[in-house]
Formats: sequence, structure tokens, C-alpha cells
Amino acid sequence: MSQLSQKHLLGIKDITRKDIELIFETASNFKEVIYRPIKKVPSLRDITIANVFFENSTRTRLSFELAEKRLSADVVNFSSSTSSVKKGETLLDTVNNILAMKVDMVVMRHSSPGAPHFLSRNIGANIINAGDGTHEHPTQALLDTFSIQEKCGHLEGLKVAIIGDILHSRVAISNILALKKLGAEVMVCGPITLLPKNIALLGVQVELDVQKALNWCDVANILRIQLERQQIKYFPSLREYSLYYGINKKLLENLNKEITIMHPGPINRGVELNSDVADSEHSIILDQVENGVAVRMAVLYLLAGIN
Ligand code: CP
Repeated sequence: MSQLSQKHLLGIKDITRKDIELIFETASNFKEVIYRPIKKVPSLRDITIANVFFENSTRTRLSFELAEKRLSADVVNFSSSTSSVKKGETLLDTVNNILAMKVDMVVMRHSSPGAPHFLSRNIGANIINAGDGTHEHPTQALLDTFSIQEKCGHLEGLKVAIIGDILHSRVAISNILALKKLGAEVMVCGPITLLPKNIALLGVQVELDVQKALNWCDVANILRIQLERQQIKYFPSLREYSLYYGINKKLLENLNKEITIMHPGPINRGVELNSDVADSEHSIILDQVENGVAVRMAVLYLLAGIN
């Protein structure tokens, strides 16, 4: 049987193109399962998975939980805001106590970059990074690239623009790494203050003018302004950001072609993306969410086979 090259999914940086293709192939099979009247398979019947979330989440947490249940795993959910972390318990003590209850895999979201990497050096269970601060969000990039391939039929040579708050975005980093591994061309676009200084070293084009970025691309992935990670002001106001970088119907009408619009969610409607685009026929935002379950089923299934 084909298997992944890694025991954990810590980031796209650590996996190969072959790993990604195996995940896509497995996800396509699981997507068929999701459309059946009985949406469950017994693949992880003997596995217990803990979803350990130290940061807020709607899509990722529910998508992992559904993926685990569709694979017949036993599932426990941990949220730091209602836990003994509030009494001073450390990350390692918390996870070791969860593992003492005979948990096999840990899905973790944490606000500190590198937290899942730290865990992987200290515990035996398989770890899946569900987002670590501004570092990586590997399953988001996998579901995004899977969705692009499904919509456009290929990734090799495709032009993808990532537009918005690149500086604070783990989604941007993981998407750039995944898209480059799969042969796509990538451009990042945003105000200069929201672009990391050395981002071009990742092999991406850099553009400050949003209309030029839209003219160039086949697919535009629009990112949220992450005010919760911004300690200083990077632009004068949200109104001004929206005026210069917000994606609206008029910008798309100025193009002489159709492009595909994506957003990882949550959307700040009227800031980085207007409803006339988010809810239009150009948008595959809800397809991304749908594909997230199949892609996460694939990741869980493939990692569960590696000790
Ligand atoms: N895309 C994403 O990670 O969304 P959540 O923060 O709701 O999980």
C-alpha cells in the first residue's frame, strides 16, 4: 500500500508532491463516500482521536470532527477556554494527560508557531497541525489546492493570486508551498505593509495593484485581514483597505475573462470581499468547505497507518 513519507502532518514544507497526490487520490475516494446515503466507513474503528484547540475555529474543528466520525474513529474534543489550561497547566502536561486516556492521534490548533513541532518531539502519537499561529495551516492548503484542481482540472502552469493580509497568514504560506510543489505559478498581492519582506524568496511574484493581480490570475484566493494578530496599524482604516484591496463585482467586470474566487473563511464581508462576489457563480468558497471533510478524512486515514 502507498503511504505518506511522514508520521505527522506538521506543515506542507515537510511533505512531498507524491504525498500531496496520494492525499488527493484518497480524498477523491472519500468524497464518493460522503455522497452515499450511509456516509460512514469503518476504516478508523479502532482509533481514538483528540481535537485539541487552543484557538477559535468553526470550519477546521467541525470538519476534522466530521471526518473522524465518517471514518468511525472515537473522538474527544478539547477547548482551552474551558480547560485546566486556565489553572496554569502546560501544553505538554495537557496533551500527555489526554494521551494517558489511550488517544492515538492529536489534531491541534495553537496560537504559537511551532507548537505542533514541539509536541511531535515529545509525544508518540501522530500529530496533525490544524493551524499554528502565523506559521502553517497544512490541511487548509490541501483542501484549497484539491478544490482548484477539481474546478480547473489541473494545477501545473495555473496562475494563482493570493490577495490580502499575507504577513499574518498561515494559509498564505501553506498555499504558496503546496501550489509551488504542484507546479502552479503564484503571485501575492496586498499593501506593502502586509507583505513579508522576503516573500519573493519563496518563488512568488509580488504585486501591489489588485486590478493587475486579477488580470494576471486564473484563480484568486482572498485572505482575511487578521486584526487579532495586528499589534500596530498596517493601513489607515478598514474602509480605506476595502477601497483599494476589497474584491467587488466591478473589479471582476473589468476583466476580459472569468476567474475563480476562493476564501478560506471566515469572511469579513465588505472588507476584503464583497457579497456580490462571495455569493456569485465565480466563488467556490463552499466547495472548499465541502472538500475539507474528504481531504481531512484522507490525511487521518493515511497517517493512522504510520507508527
Ligand atoms: N479556514 C479556517 O481555518 O477557518 P476556522 O478558523 O473557522 O477553522
